[in-house]
Parts: sequence; structure tokens; C-alpha cells
Amino acid sequence: MDARSELQATVKALVQDGKGILAADESSPTIAKRFKAIGVDSTEANRRAYRSLIFATPGLGDFISGVILYEETLNQKADDGTPLPQLAARQGIVPGIKVDAGKIALALAPDDEVTEGLDGLGKRLEAYKSQGARFAKWRAVYHVSDTLPSSLAIEANAHALARYAAICQAQGVVPIVEPEVLIDGDHTLARCADVTEEVLHEVFHALHRHRVQPELMLLKPSMVVPGKEHATQAAPAEVAEWTVRTLKRTVPAAVAGIFFLSGGQTPAEATANLDAMNRLQPLPWPLSFSYGRALQDPAMQAWKGLAANAAATQHALLHRARLNGAARRGAYSVAMEAAR
Ligand code: 13P
Repeated sequence: MDARSELQATVKALVQDGKGILAADESSPTIAKRFKAIGVDSTEANRRAYRSLIFATPGLGDFISGVILYEETLNQKADDGTPLPQLAARQGIVPGIKVDAGKIALALAPDDEVTEGLDGLGKRLEAYKSQGARFAKWRAVYHVSDTLPSSLAIEANAHALARYAAICQAQGVVPIVEPEVLIDGDHTLARCADVTEEVLHEVFHALHRHRVQPELMLLKPSMVVPGKEHATQAAPAEVAEWTVRTLKRTVPAAVAGIFFLSGGQTPAEATANLDAMNRLQPLPWPLSFSYGRALQDPAMQAWKGLAANAAATQHALLHRARLNGAARRGAYSVAMEAAR
């Protein structure tokens, strides 16, 4: 298959009614933090046990079209010898891979960060592809204050995201472009909207310059919400209105799909906010989820590192996947939280 046909087939498999993406690509320091919260050591064996368990959840493919993996997971096998990417693929879930190498301080721009990992990316993608990965993810982060992010950080991250996306498309790997405006801080909803608008405008300008085709990529943005420490939080209808307005101002209608990150929202908030957006039809693009914590937190809480909790872990993950599948169609209600 040529690169274009591969990209088209992968986009079609990822963008499906009632389905979203499971982000299970926590880096080693991040998964260690998540495991610590449930009293589990982050050993290779524990990471393998947990991830084999969740990918094998019966019925997960009804609500999840793709899973983002961390490099280590690509090489791991379930107890019966099945490679973990295949465990997901068996359920009709497309395996993808986080390819950025994490964030570092942006030189000469105090408190801004930039994501690295472009060197050798083309070669790495060839290897990931041979291990089953059909899409990729690169995350840029933006800190928010009265002065942050600087225009320098906005430009540097847009450039890296665009270079990454172009390299992916050239290789037949669908790029998920993830600019995350962080929820940390006490900024207002309006400030988050302003920053998000600047960031997305610059990202799409860079993508255009780098000849990235919007039809063959996915966007993974943060929602427009007040900072976590802000005195008043916003209701789902308000988050939906501000987020959709900001996206309409900046994201070409040709983009194949928008899959939000949860970014520190509670599982119920992330579901309710997505649902509220999908009620604002007609929308130019499919709006879905690519949640990490908002899908996995309840499952991890149920697991606690014990094989005896396997069924409860899978049940908790499937429950959140089902609710987000409903939110993807604008058919979620809070009452569904209780249905188990
Ligand atoms: P959260 O949904 O937990 O923000 O994770 C999504 C993700 O992939 C962050 O890079």
C-alpha cells in the first residue's frame, strides 16, 4: 500500500461513531507516579501485567478504536506470548505510539518548555511500523500565566509539531498533533481561550507550511477550561461553548477528527464536557476522546496491583469507555454513571 492509502485506512479505522482513543502511553516517570498513587512499584513486570490486563478487556473494541502505547509496550508480550499491540489489534483497536522524547526547558525563555525528539524520527517510525504501530502522537505543553506562554514557545512548539507530523505522513503513519494548554494555575476561562486560540492558530499555520494534509491527521487539544486553582469552575455547557468557538476559529474543517485529552479533569467532568460539545451540532469535525487518566483512573484504583482484581479492573475501564462512547454521540447523561 502507498503511504496515502495507508493514512486513509488508518484515519477511517480511528474515526468511528461512538468510539475514541485510549491513551496508555505514560512515560516511565509518569506511570511510576500513577502506580505510586495506588501503592504499586513501577517494575517492568507490573507495567506489563497492568497493560495486558486492560488491553484484553472484553468488549473494549466496541468503544475504543485506537490505543496509544509507550515504546516499551510495543515489545512486551502477554502471558500467552501475544505481543501487546496484537492484543489490542485483535479487538479491532488500532495500535499507535508516542514518539516524542518529552519536554525540556526552552532555552532563554524562562518557564516555557519545548518538546524534543525529531532527530532520527523517520528511522524510528520504520521500526515502530514493523512492530504494528499505525499512528503516532507528539505532545507539546504550554504553561499559562499572565505572561506565559511566550510567543517564542508558541512558535518553537508549533514548528516541532509540524515537522513531526510531516515526517509521519511521509512514512504512512497518521500523526496525532497534541498541543496541551495546561490546566495548572488560577487563570480564567477567557485567558485559557486566548492562549488556546494563539496556540492553535500557530500550530495550523506551521502544519500548512510543512505541507501536512489536514484530512490525514488528528488533533488532540485540551478543552478550554479555567485553571484548576481558579475560584469558579465552568459547567459543561460553558466549556463546550468556549471550546467549540475557539476550535472553529482556528482548526480547518478538513481535519479528520478532534480527540480531546483529559488533562487533569475528573473522569465524570471529561465525559460531561465532551457530551456537551457533541450536542452543539452541526460541527465541522467529529469530536471524540483520547483520554489517559479520565479512562484509566477508576480502573487503576480497582486494580491496586492485584491479579485477584482483574475482573473489577476491566469492568471499571469498560464502564468509562462506554460512557465516553455515549458522549461521543452527545447521548450521555449523569444517570448513566450509576449504571454498572
Ligand atoms: P490525559 O487524558 O490523562 O491528559 O492523557 C492524555 C495524554 O495522552 C497526555 O499526553
